[in-house]
Order: sequence, then structure tokens, then C-alpha cells
Amino acid sequence: MERIPEPEIMDDEEQARAYSEADFEAPHSMFVHLFTERFGDEINGHVLDAGCGPADISVRFALACKGCTVHGVDASKPMIRLGRERVRSKGLEDRIRLYHGYLPGTAIEAEEISALIVNSLLHHLPQASQMWDIVRHYAPGTGSCALFLMDLIRPESKTQAREIVEKYSGSEPEVLKKDFYHSLCAAYRPDEVRQQLSDAGLDFLNVEVVSDRHFVVHGML
Ligand SMILES: C[S@@+](CC[C@H](N)C(=O)[O-])C[C@H]1O[C@@H](n2cnc3c(N)ncnc32)[C@H](O)[C@@H]1O
Repeated sequence: MERIPEPEIMDDEEQARAYSEADFEAPHSMFVHLFTERFGDEINGHVLDAGCGPADISVRFALACKGCTVHGVDASKPMIRLGRERVRSKGLEDRIRLYHGYLPGTAIEAEEISALIVNSLLHHLPQASQMWDIVRHYAPGTGSCALFLMDLIRPESKTQAREIVEKYSGSEPEVLKKDFYHSLCAAYRPDEVRQQLSDAGLDFLNVEVVSDRHFVVHGML
């Protein structure tokens, strides 16, 4: 099926709360596991979590890689507020800083980052090239920054998208199931991502399918 874009910023209060309360244990622990499998857990210095939402990945990452400070940026005020609550509840205020801001363009309190992590942002952006502009903007370009991006794979059909929603979030609130469906329909396919990387001059990065609904892009920048 053709891609159906969805709104870029998740700034509706109810939507942000439902997203923050959703059970992302399986995909988010997989995210951190796949990162450490590729890059280890001895990441020091500063890490940017681009489009951090309510900071669930920022928190998991900070707990897994104890030597780093995570900077999470999101353009949604409710997401950042919920993220700050989560960070406070985990006692991680000294290791996670959250910023309300649009990417690229938001300044973070770090001269150079040693990792750029991105989960489920690409399919929200109005132009895919914006994702690769973000990567080029924040990564130092000296081969010292680990890039790890994970996103959904657009299914072959709307029927298949509905089946995936039922299989993985059948018992979640309706608002969340709708969001998941729209995200699947807005997502890219791995061959499209390879083309985006080639257009952006980043085709040395690896694209890997890691589940029936996720791919990752990784490499050093
Ligand atoms: C599906 S959520 C993913 C949140 C988080 N990464 C996670 O995995 O839980 C996508 C997030 O990207 C944010 N977003 C979209 N476009 C953005 C942009 N240009 N700059 C900053 N945040 C953006 C949205 O507001 C939303 O919170």
C-alpha cells in the first residue's frame, strides 16, 4: 500500500498520556538490547535521543549505559512534561535532560555527542530527508558517534496493518490502537530507507530488519 502520512507532532494531551502509559516493554527493551549488541554499553559522554516522547527510551538507555548523559528533545510540550515526570520518578534528573524543541535546530547542552538514538521519529516527519538532516546536524562526522535508529515497517496492506495492531496492542486503549495503525500506514519500507540514505550520502549505514514490524539503521558517523 501507499504511505499515508500522519501528523508530525504528538501534542494532544490525551494522545500523549495514552502513549506514555502504553506498555512498550517489548519494543523498547529490544531497542536498548540491539543497541548494546552492536555498540556495547560503555557509551560515555553525551547521547541525543531525538524525538524522545515521554522519555521511556531515554530512561532505559541511561540505565543500561551508565557512563552517559542523555539529552532528549521533543517538539511536543505534553510529551516533555510526561518525560520529566518519568525521569524524576526514576531519580535520573542528573543524567537525563529533556528539552522542548523542534529538530533539527534545537540546541542541547553538549559540544559533541557519542551516540544518536532515534525511535519512531522518521515516520512522523513531513519529509524523510529531514531525518537525515537531523543526523548530519548533530553527529560530529568524525566516525566517533554511534547512530542507532529504529522504526516501523509499513505493512503490505491495510488488512495486514490491522492484524499487526490486534496482535501487538489488542488490549490497549482505542486511542493507542488508532495511533499504532496510523503509524504503520505512515512508516517506510526498508528499500525506501536505503534509497533515502543513498540520496543523503549516508549509504554506508546499515539497514536491518529486526522483527516482523521493525527495521534499524546503524553505523558510526
Ligand atoms: C512515536 S513518538 C516516539 C517517541 C519516543 N521516541 C518513543 O519511542 O517512545 C514520535 C515523537 O516525535 C516527536 N516529533 C515529531 N517531529 C519532531 C521534530 N521535528 N522535532 C522534535 N520532535 C518531533 C513527536 O512529538 C513524538 O513525541
